[in-house]
Formats: sequence, C-alpha cells, structure tokens
Amino acid sequence: MHRNMYVCTLHTYIHESSNSVLPGLKQEKTNVKYIQATKFGGPEVLTLLETQTPTPGDGMLLVEVKAAGVNYLDLAARSGFYPQIPAAPFSPGFEIVGVVKSVGNGVEGFKEGDSVAAITMEGGGYATHIVIPAAATIPLPPGLDPANVAALLVQGLTAYMLLEETKVKAGDAVLISAAAGGLGSIAVQLAKAKGATVIGLASKSKFGTVKQLGADFVVDYNDAQWAASVREAVGSQGVQVYLDSIGDPSTEAFSLLSTFGHWIVFGARSAGKPLPPEAIGRMIEENITLRGYNLGASLQHIPRALGDLFKFFADGTLKIEITNYPLADAAKVHTLFGERKTTGKVVLIP
Ligand SMILES: NC(=O)c1ccc[n+]([C@@H]2O[C@H](COP(=O)([O-])OP(=O)(O)OC[C@H]3O[C@@H](n4cnc5c(N)ncnc54)[C@H](OP(=O)(O)O)[C@@H]3O)[C@@H](O)[C@H]2O)c1
Repeated sequence: MHRNMYVCTLHTYIHESSNSVLPGLKQEKTNVKYIQATKFGGPEVLTLLETQTPTPGDGMLLVEVKAAGVNYLDLAARSGFYPQIPAAPFSPGFEIVGVVKSVGNGVEGFKEGDSVAAITMEGGGYATHIVIPAAATIPLPPGLDPANVAALLVQGLTAYMLLEETKVKAGDAVLISAAAGGLGSIAVQLAKAKGATVIGLASKSKFGTVKQLGADFVVDYNDAQWAASVREAVGSQGVQVYLDSIGDPSTEAFSLLSTFGHWIVFGARSAGKPLPPEAIGRMIEENITLRGYNLGASLQHIPRALGDLFKFFADGTLKIEITNYPLADAAKVHTLFGERKTTGKVVLIP
C-alpha cells in the first residue's frame, strides 16, 4: 500500500531510539507492551515485548490502543511477503482504534481523551500504545465499539471500494472469494444491499456463515468443480463481477464472466500461474476487464467511504461478527488465520 498513509509506528520509534532517546522525546514510567516479529517466518516469530512509553514528537499523537485489527496482510508481512515491510524485526498491525493519551507540539484538532482510528501502513498496531501523526489520524465520535470500528477500516474500506470500482448494481451476479472472511463478509452484505445476487466462495465449514450474511449461493472453491457449481447457480446471466483475493488467472473464472464482466484481483494467495491464451481470447471477444485493486492507491475516498460504512453499521445494513483475543495471543491468532479457521473480524485487545 501507499507511503502517503505513513504512520510513525511504535516500531519506528523503537527502531530509531534503540541506541539513544530521540531528540525531544522524554521517557515516561509506564510500560508499553507490543508484539514484535523477531524475524520473518511463521506465527512463532511473534513475541510480546515491553518498552517505556514514548512522548509524541511534533505533529504526533500518543494513542492508547483499544482494538488492533488483524488482517490477512499481517500474515503476509510476518512471512516477509509485504514489500512495505522490507526487513525484520518489525511490529505488525496495520489498523488501530484507540484514545489519545498525549499530543505533540503543533497538533491541532486533537486532545487527550479523543477517540481515534488509524491505518498504520508501517505496522506497529499490535501494541498497547502507538505514536501516529495527527495528520493521518481519523477522529471518531465517542461511544463507538473499537472492535467494530476496526472491522470497517482496511477490510471494510476495501470491500466498499471494490464494489464501487466495479460499479455493482441491482441484478448483477457478484462472485466473492473468502466470503466468510473479514473483507468478504462485508463485501457480501454490501453487495446484497445494492440488490446484487451474491455467490460466496468459501470452505465448506463456513457455508452456514456465508448464507447468514445473505449470500444467495455458496460454493466451495476447494472443490475442483467449483466453476461448474457457480455456472449452475447463475445460469445464462453469467457473473458480472468477480471479487478475487486468490489471484489465480488460470482458473475457469473467465468462462463464468458475462460480456463486459469485471474480474478485480485484490489478493494473491495463489498467484504465480499464467493467464491461459483462451482467457485472453475471451477477454477480447467479451469485453471483459481484468484489473487489480489496492486500497492504498484510493486514499482520497476514505472519508466518504468510512462515513457510509458507519451509517450502514448504525442502520443495521452491516452486521459484523467480531472475535476478540488478548494481545498476547497474537501468535495463536496468526496460526488460526493461516489454518483458515477464522470468520468475520478478528481483533487483538491490548
Ligand atoms: N488490495 C488491498 O488493498 C487489500 C486490502 C485488504 C485485504 N486485501 C486482501 O483481501 C483478502 C482478504 O483479507 P482479509 O484480511 O479479510 O482476510 P480473510 O479473508 O479474513 O482471511 C481468512 C480467510 O481467507 C480464506 N483463505 C483463502 N485462501 C487462503 C489461504 N491460502 N490461506 C489462508 N486463508 C485463506 C479462508 O477462508 P476459506 O477457508 O473460506 O477460504 C480464511 O478463513 C486477502 O487476500 C488480503 O490480502 C487486499
């Protein structure tokens, strides 16, 4: 994602201050707990550490984290596959919701006690406290549940933007991968709210969850015949939009797309396979669009999109399943994520 969304993370602070205290920063007595990936690798590299609480520098806020959202992205970063995190050790966690504890010089519009949220593209969210630039901090009305807000950040915003970018409308058939996951579960509900027919792709054990979210059909994409099952579900209408976090263009998905269909790739869990020549032929013949999407390149839409997501959550259009874990369970949570055992939003509570 994008450097514009740079947030000076606890990791950055710790890294920069490992030999000396940063100029203008004085140490307080309270301790900060944070998770560090000591090196790139499996969940076992996630270690709970402690350091002294920093004082925010110019333009910065010290925020007490109330909810640290877990994203699939965190697993990619931990494994060393996220270019934004080129080296370990680092502190994972790319979104937080919390309360301002102290305000650096020159900050306007924030004060101690304010509820805030942030997307922290350099990590550092898995912590009791984080230092972030005020300019990249989202003010929140008081009284919102931090875990619910976390669900609306990276995953909610991406789901919202994917449907907007592909111009999903009433009557469209929308195919959604990992439909029971954090992003997928929101995409299913938002697509239904637009009047689309939704076909969720998920492991069999999650069929009940995807149905409850409102999907019209659920198909197990681990089954070799999954494309035939989708074809049977949508009939001659075909699929107008495929929201794809798998990133394998060699599948039969091209044959499912209707004329002017959109295949939008936003994840790469099985990337590396080539685009077959027949798929290129079909793209040309049927005016099919294959494209990528990255939330980090759409930052200008965030205030509007987040406003809509809050509204949908408040009016019940959007229901979010939350599973909370203590911060110290970060490694366990990553194991569950990697084993495909999670549904909905997973949050670490420091
Ligand atoms: N481009 C962007 O800006 C952007 C932003 C946010 C997220 N994303 C991408 O969107 C996707 C969804 O993210 P998320 O955070 O909401 O995660 P998530 O979907 O909640 O991830 C967990 C679920 O993904 C499914 N899955 C499919 N293949 C998997 C695999 N090889 N390993 C583990 N799980 C797998 C599993 O469900 P089943 O068992 O049902 O398959 C699993 O339970 C990810 O690929 C993420 O990188 C992209």
